[in-house]
Amino acid sequence: MVDLSVDLGGLEMRTPVATASGTFGYGTEYIGALDYTKLGAVTVKGVRRDPWPGNPMPRHVEVFGGLVNAIGLQGPGVEAFAGHYVKHYARTAGPDAPPLIVNIWGGSVDEYAEVAARLTQAGAPVSAIECNVSCPNVKEGGHTFGQDPAILARLVKTVRAATSLPLIVKLAPNVPDMAPYVAACEENGADALALINTIPAMVIDVEARRPVLGNRTGGLSGRCVHPVAVKAVYDAHRCSRLPILAMGGVYEAKDAIELMLAGATAVAVGTATFTSPATAAAVCDGMADYCERHGIASVRELTGALET
Ligand SMILES: Cc1cc2nc3c(=O)[nH]c(=O)nc-3n(C[C@H](O)[C@H](O)[C@H](O)COP(=O)(O)O)c2cc1C
Repeated sequence: MVDLSVDLGGLEMRTPVATASGTFGYGTEYIGALDYTKLGAVTVKGVRRDPWPGNPMPRHVEVFGGLVNAIGLQGPGVEAFAGHYVKHYARTAGPDAPPLIVNIWGGSVDEYAEVAARLTQAGAPVSAIECNVSCPNVKEGGHTFGQDPAILARLVKTVRAATSLPLIVKLAPNVPDMAPYVAACEENGADALALINTIPAMVIDVEARRPVLGNRTGGLSGRCVHPVAVKAVYDAHRCSRLPILAMGGVYEAKDAIELMLAGATAVAVGTATFTSPATAAAVCDGMADYCERHGIASVRELTGALET
């Protein structure tokens, strides 16, 4: 029997497979579609302080090997989330429900901290905070938090002070060098990293000569981003001791194992859930199978275990 449990910076996961934010609703939408006992954690859609309407339609378009989306982080706001969605999840997913990782975002550093503090009060099953830093810093110039190491450092430090929950910082891969961003997280109290968020992308309807998405641009995900995720995880693991929750084009166990060998402690399934809702459970089974075939007693042995 392979030991599938992992520790993601203080978040105890019974399997190394989570769901990725924005692709698994608020945790209850897929009940009955897959075996939740195979999930180490459920990451919910990004939550901010106030309700947010998201972007105009259309919000997603399929491309070769993936998806470009511009949902625009639609959400009900932290009060509705903590007061209703969390309770609904606890009631419906039952006593064996996987812990919730709550993905958060905001327009300012203080807003992130406020949301993190409110979620900390919510109690179980809220078990970790994942900061999405790929959104605009509205208060300070509009660049994304995750693309300025100094601002990222301040964000991580401020959120760290606001929560006792494990703090995961979710980085984007579209930076010239991961090292200063990883350092900003590690030096300011993050417990783990999440890699990768979507990659900026655009699709144009050539007949109409118009961008397809209502927001004009969006983020690319799915199979086609997988090698980018492997490289980002590899780079981050080489310059940091923080555990990594890796996502980006995980469709089968082989993809997850690749990310583990590159340095991940756990993986998350995103876009693949849209084509096959039970993907995360199948990935978990396939990882156990791989470990058995290779005589590996604990999935933890895979982390960074590349032959040199
Ligand atoms: C429709 C959609 C919505 C997403 N919403 C969020 C979100 O709210 N917050 C976030 O940090 N990432 C969000 N993501 C990014 C995913 O969590 C994940 O990092 C990315 O899609 C790469 O994984 P994948 O290729 O397995 O989908 C979203 C992705 C998709 C496709």
